[in-house]
Amino acid sequence: MSSLSKSLQNPWKSPEPAVLEDLRTSLLRWYGDAGRVLPWRKERDPYPIWISEIMLQQTQVKTVLPYYDRWLHAFPTLETLAQADLQQVLKLWEGLGYYSRARNLHRAAQQVMEEHQGIFPQQLEAVLSLPGIGRTTAGGILSAAFNQPISILDGNVKRILARLITLPKPPGKSQKQLWELSDAILDRDNPRDFNQALMDLGATLCTPKVPKCDHCPWNSHCLAHQTGTPTHWPMRETPPVRPHKNIGVAVIWNDRGQLLIDRRLDKGLLGGLWEFPGGKLEPGETLPECIKREIQEELAIDIEVGDHLITIDHAYTHFRVTLNVYNCRYCSGTPQAIECQEIRWVTLEELDQFPFPKANLKIIEALREQGIGYKQ
Ligand code: ADE
Repeated sequence: MSSLSKSLQNPWKSPEPAVLEDLRTSLLRWYGDAGRVLPWRKERDPYPIWISEIMLQQTQVKTVLPYYDRWLHAFPTLETLAQADLQQVLKLWEGLGYYSRARNLHRAAQQVMEEHQGIFPQQLEAVLSLPGIGRTTAGGILSAAFNQPISILDGNVKRILARLITLPKPPGKSQKQLWELSDAILDRDNPRDFNQALMDLGATLCTPKVPKCDHCPWNSHCLAHQTGTPTHWPMRETPPVRPHKNIGVAVIWNDRGQLLIDRRLDKGLLGGLWEFPGGKLEPGETLPECIKREIQEELAIDIEVGDHLITIDHAYTHFRVTLNVYNCRYCSGTPQAIECQEIRWVTLEELDQFPFPKANLKIIEALREQGIGYKQ
């Protein structure tokens, strides 16, 4: 039995110091040769590093890169972000998903202005008290900006560590052990590069489906590699039940060729974003009946439901939706913002000025293909 597997039997013990030292040295050597060159890695100012860490929370590097550049162009400093209009912030985030990240960045920037005189804090506790920043993000920022010895444990790191020790439980049930291991392995002389190296290892070699173990600097210590079972780890979490919502959506045209959009209440997953109005299909209802009823309840207007425009399936973290979109004609009544913050009549061209959730962008695309109007 290898010294790593001996030292990792229950009760949990950290790997031997010599093993830890070898893990650190070999990872840093590999990172020196094969680490990715990424724009936030040349920064020492915590503001751009913080922005990158938030964008990278649920999103891959190649998707983040253009958003990161656009963001820093629009909001070059923490102060400019704090003073920005939330709608502009959400517009820059459009398409990146998990919009609470953008709302939290905006609120956190204002908190830093009020509580820390505009200077991003260096104390872990203060960083953790900012909205949207958990332990891994705080470790990512403080190690990258100030070389502080704070460990990280995102999805990639969990996978690497679970394979390294063939963790016998799903990561969700082994948080304490994984944090202790990440802490024990961290190179305290070079936490900045070490954490970045760990992220690169997870993103480029220790990948979920086809890990490139032959190139891995940790293969001589990795129990998953030694037992020929890398893809068996991490063990699967019990999958969450993801409810499905069937939604009727109205694209409501008036006789001036404008369409009606509304802005959602600030709370919830897509809070503050614009959308085409609609709501949940009730049992026994047809989609046109659902749409007519929802629009009467939400906006107090009467519409005629016309042709089907598009059906969009979209998966969020906790639920799935099907958007059944219909062209509709405005008939009567004055639109009222009953279950939303605001309503506007806009032209197809003006739609670009408003931040929409990703699934709604597909509606806009379909509308542009169809052209203006409701077939009378
Ligand atoms: N994912 C989270 N933080 C990252 C970083 N700094 N570089 C690359 N991927 C990351």
